[in-house]
Amino acid sequence: MPGPTLSLEAALNDMEARARARIEAAGGPEELEPVRVEVLGRKGALAQISRQMGQLAPEERGRIGKLLNAVKEGLEAALEARKASFDEQALAARLDAEWVDLTLPAPGPRSGSLHPITQIQTEIEDLFTSMGFAVLGGPEVETEYHNFDALNIPADHPARDMQDTFWLTDGNLLRTHTSPVQVRGMQRLGPPLRMIAPGRLFRNEEVDASHEHTFYQVEGMIVDREVSVAHLIYFMKSLLSHVFRREVTVRLRPGYFPFVEPGFELDIHCLICGGSGCPVCKQSGWVEQVGCGLVHPNVLRMSRIDPEEWNGFAFGLGLTRLAMMRYGIDDIRLLQSGDLRFLKQF
Ligand code: FA5
Repeated sequence: MPGPTLSLEAALNDMEARARARIEAAGGPEELEPVRVEVLGRKGALAQISRQMGQLAPEERGRIGKLLNAVKEGLEAALEARKASFDEQALAARLDAEWVDLTLPAPGPRSGSLHPITQIQTEIEDLFTSMGFAVLGGPEVETEYHNFDALNIPADHPARDMQDTFWLTDGNLLRTHTSPVQVRGMQRLGPPLRMIAPGRLFRNEEVDASHEHTFYQVEGMIVDREVSVAHLIYFMKSLLSHVFRREVTVRLRPGYFPFVEPGFELDIHCLICGGSGCPVCKQSGWVEQVGCGLVHPNVLRMSRIDPEEWNGFAFGLGLTRLAMMRYGIDDIRLLQSGDLRFLKQF
C-alpha cells in the first residue's frame, strides 16, 4: 500500500499532466477558463489535494507543499502562455485580413459629369456670348407683374390659362416661363439689347413622355432698330445647328403669344423616331421646340422703350426637350429622375 505522501504526490502529478494536456489541446481561449476553474479554482483539484495535506507526516508536509505550489505556478504560467499564443494568433489573423499593399498606385478620383441640360445650356451660352449677347438670370418666384402684366397679359386675359400657374399665398407665383427675364432685361439695360436667359420654370400640368411640371427654357431677345423675322430665323437656325452640329429640319407655323406680333411656333423634326411617329412627338413626327416672334409694341412701351424707334424679336426655347432630341432620350421624366445609371451615360 503506498503511504499518503506517495498517493498525494501521484495525484498531483497525474492532475498536472492531465491539465497540461487539456491546455495544449484547447482550440481557443474560451476552452481555457473551464480548465482554470476546475484545477485552480476555490473548489478545484488543487484545493482538494491541499486539504488532504493534513494527513501527511509533518516532515513530508513541507516537501509536498512546495511541490503543490510549483504545480500551481506551473499551471498558471501554462494557462497564461497558451492564452498569449491565442492572442498572437488572433492578431496575426487580423493583420492578415487588414493587409494593404502600400506600393500599389492609389485609385484615381471618380470623375462626375455635368447634367445633359447643363451641358447644352453652357454650349448655348457660349454661342450667344460670342455673338454679343448678355446672359441674364431672374427669380424663380416671380411677381404677377413680371410673369404676366408686363408681357401684355392682363388679369382678365384668356392667355393666362395657356400656362397652368402655381400661385403662392402671398400673390406671387412660380414663373411659368423665362419670359419675365425679358422684362427685367429691358428695364435694367434698356435698348439696344441682346440677351439670353436660361432657367427653370414650373407649370401645374399633367406629366407625360414630353411634358414635365418643372423644366428648363432659354429665353432670347434682341431690341434694336429694324429687327426682322429674317433675323429671328437666322438666330434660331444658328442655335439649332450649333446644338445638333448639323442642319436639322424645322418648320415655322403661326403661334399665338400675347407678347409677340407676329408670333410663331418652331417645331423640329422628331429625332427620336426620325419623323415616323412616337409617344414623344405624339405620332405627329414634329416636336414643338420654340415659341418666338417680334416683340409686341405694348411690351416695349410697358418697359419704357419707344416702339416708334425700337423693335425686336424674342424666343423661348424648350431646353429640356432640346436635350431629349440631342441625346435621343425618349422620356422627359428620366432627366429629373436622379437615376445615376441614366446620368452616368453623359
Ligand atoms: C412660352 O413659354 C413662351 N414664353 C415662349 C416665347 C418666348 C414665345 C418669347 C414668344 C416669345 P411655350 O409654352 O410654347 O411658350 O413653351 C416654349 C417651349 O417650352 C415649347 O416650345 C416647348 O419646347 C417647351 N415646353 C412647353 N411646355 C413644356 C413641358 N410641359 N415640358 C417640357 N417642355 C415644355
